Amino acid sequence: MIDLHCHLLHGLDDGPDSLEESLQLCRIAAADGITHAIVTPHIHPGRWDNTRKSIELGYDNLRRKLDQNNIPLQLGFAAEVRVTDQLMQQVADSDLPYYGEVEGYKVLLLEFPHSHLVPGSEKLFEWLLHRGIRPLVAHPERNRQVMKNASQLQPFIDAGCWLQVTAGSVTGLFGEKPMAIAHQLLQEGRVKVLASDGHNAAARPPVLGEAYEYIAQSYGEERARQLMLDAPAMIAAAQI
Ligand SMILES: [Fe+2]
Repeated sequence: MIDLHCHLLHGLDDGPDSLEESLQLCRIAAADGITHAIVTPHIHPGRWDNTRKSIELGYDNLRRKLDQNNIPLQLGFAAEVRVTDQLMQQVADSDLPYYGEVEGYKVLLLEFPHSHLVPGSEKLFEWLLHRGIRPLVAHPERNRQVMKNASQLQPFIDAGCWLQVTAGSVTGLFGEKPMAIAHQLLQEGRVKVLASDGHNAAARPPVLGEAYEYIAQSYGEERARQLMLDAPAMIAAAQI
């Protein structure tokens, strides 16, 4: 399996605090059957001021440590970029790490605040698509506005955005409502990819295996493979 969204680099955000914890998370991912992890530290201006460079440095360091410790996990890097009024400037500054390119569009992982969908962001996303950037919306099923009414996502889907649902939401890790929305989106065929969004070993480990089994049983093996292997492999092809 390929995990397209996880926080495995230490000291950059609310992921692991130390290199040891970082390595522990990578061992957990590898033992779960994840062969490739694309690390996605937060870029959230004023809170986590990461840049392409700071993420690349952390990624290079962790990659070396994985080799030295014989941990069988291949890494790539992107970022989970918060939707703020600075996004247009960040795009103009070319400071954002994309996954790679699919059908002529660079794919960018974007995160809304958990409380709501930012007003006007449909227009912002159209602006991005116009510039050859396809938003991959992180964990919409955990957004409170979407939890009230999943049809709020329709304008984004119509505009051409892709959706990434969290593996733990599918199995109920985040409670009933995100689970219900996750399955509604799955049943409607609107989910592009499932990812762990792993942050730590105890509460939010970087694992996909349980969700893979669940999806395989409920929707068929082919669907599980599509969501956790084929689609992430296509999106991050340049890094795999
Ligand atoms: Fe995340």
